Amino acid sequence: LGGVQAVVPVAPPDELQADHVGSALAQLRIGDRQVADLARLQRALAAQPDSETLLFQVARLQVWLDRRADALVTFRRLLAVAPGHAEARHMAAVLAGEPPEKASAEYIASTFDAFADSFDEKLVGWLEYRAPQQLAALARRVLDGRIAERAIDLGCGTGLVGAEVKGLVRRLDGVDLSPRMIGHARRRGVYADLAVEELVALLQRRPDSYDLALAADVLIYIGDLRPLFAALHGALRDGGLFIASVEKGGGARYIAEKSGRYQHGEDYLRRRAEEAGFDLVALEEVVLRKEENRPAAGYVFALRRRPPVAADPLAALSTDDLLAQLAQPAAGLLAAVAQRMIGRDFQVGWALDIGGGMARHAEDLRRLSQHLDMVDPDPARVRVAFESGAFDECEAAGTLDYLEARPDHYDLILAGDALVRAPDAPALFSAVKVALAVAGVFIALADPARQDAATLQAQAQAEGLVVLAVEPVSLPDGRPGLCLIAES
Ligand SMILES: C[S@@+](CC[C@H](N)C(=O)[O-])C[C@H]1O[C@@H](n2cnc3c(N)ncnc32)[C@H](O)[C@@H]1O
Repeated sequence: LGGVQAVVPVAPPDELQADHVGSALAQLRIGDRQVADLARLQRALAAQPDSETLLFQVARLQVWLDRRADALVTFRRLLAVAPGHAEARHMAAVLAGEPPEKASAEYIASTFDAFADSFDEKLVGWLEYRAPQQLAALARRVLDGRIAERAIDLGCGTGLVGAEVKGLVRRLDGVDLSPRMIGHARRRGVYADLAVEELVALLQRRPDSYDLALAADVLIYIGDLRPLFAALHGALRDGGLFIASVEKGGGARYIAEKSGRYQHGEDYLRRRAEEAGFDLVALEEVVLRKEENRPAAGYVFALRRRPPVAADPLAALSTDDLLAQLAQPAAGLLAAVAQRMIGRDFQVGWALDIGGGMARHAEDLRRLSQHLDMVDPDPARVRVAFESGAFDECEAAGTLDYLEARPDHYDLILAGDALVRAPDAPALFSAVKVALAVAGVFIALADPARQDAATLQAQAQAEGLVVLAVEPVSLPDGRPGLCLIAES
């Protein structure tokens, strides 16, 4: 946990003994001492270049000192000596910018088994860890006097959460990957059932079982929350609550920090919760604990499970039928214009299709952009786009909100019929201007019966777009159209 635990498989040389405790205490001190420690460890490593212990300690100290490139090299050296070293594997992937979607079961189990006996002392005593109390306070508020019949503590660890929520639940289960952490939880005597298992797998085995699920300081080991939220939706009963903490990240994505742990942005939580069928009933910013002697900012939040939506008539159709409903005749035309603008043999990084009408032409667009997203407020339309497999990310959201939340993000934005459907073209232009990266291109089709060329041009320019052309085009179904091409 961020260098607090000392996983020392072999006894370190004598001169390093003091640092055994120090590798934990180091977390609480900043400054020259670590640089001196690192130099000492590196001298020792030069004498024993294959020492797992020394490689591990050096790598951890390099991370601490923010020497990430050095730490990556050291973790890779460690992996060459000990290919099964789960933490080295995780950290090397994170430092190389290719984090896994969540921490592996081996990494979690080995880390927390090593940490179990000192977890409470270090977290509560040294790092002023408060997530269990914060979750319990939020649970008390959201339950509002009710008692949860059956609850589960996900990643229960030594059972600190169990001790806090005793009075709020009739029966409490717990699950954790670390047998030794579970051993401590068992001794608290507050859990009816304790399982050593991966928590998503356990939730999938227990459909419709819980009124309340809690996860304190656990989602920091899970980056992509989609599988967890889907499993939770299955395991919670209607109206069931999920109350958890995350480390505070930014925006609509999650990231893996140099600590190896994940941080989630508020927009990311909102979006994934909404998609999975939850209402966000509370979200508060808190200080979770200390990290490198500074307060670690986090969120505690509560989700309430919505009942599944009644079967959608679209669900009965094949993907081809669904696609036909989505595709618009003009999409091919837009793809051709985009090709012309970008130029043959060139590629942009990020492209967005507002409305998802380009699905049928996704292959053309893939040649033009490395990453292709779609957005539309209509969830049915988004599902169709998602099922087409054409897009990297599909999101049901208001187009303006979506664009404004991604400043300087897209090199290419396409709007097959968004402009036709937009009640307020200037607002769309303004949001597009925000989301376009430098020299990004916006290509949209308009209906001349609703919007004439001169007005469109003036509106786009008033919002700061550089209009390159407003061309009259003939749509494949014979209707006249207007194609607007603008740059940021
Ligand atoms: C920082 S501890 C928090 C423990 C406890 N919730 C508390 O607040 O004291 C994180 C715990 O989550 C467990 N954990 C992390 N990922 C897990 C997963 N995917 N499945 C089950 N347990 C997991 C770890 O083993 C560890 O015990």
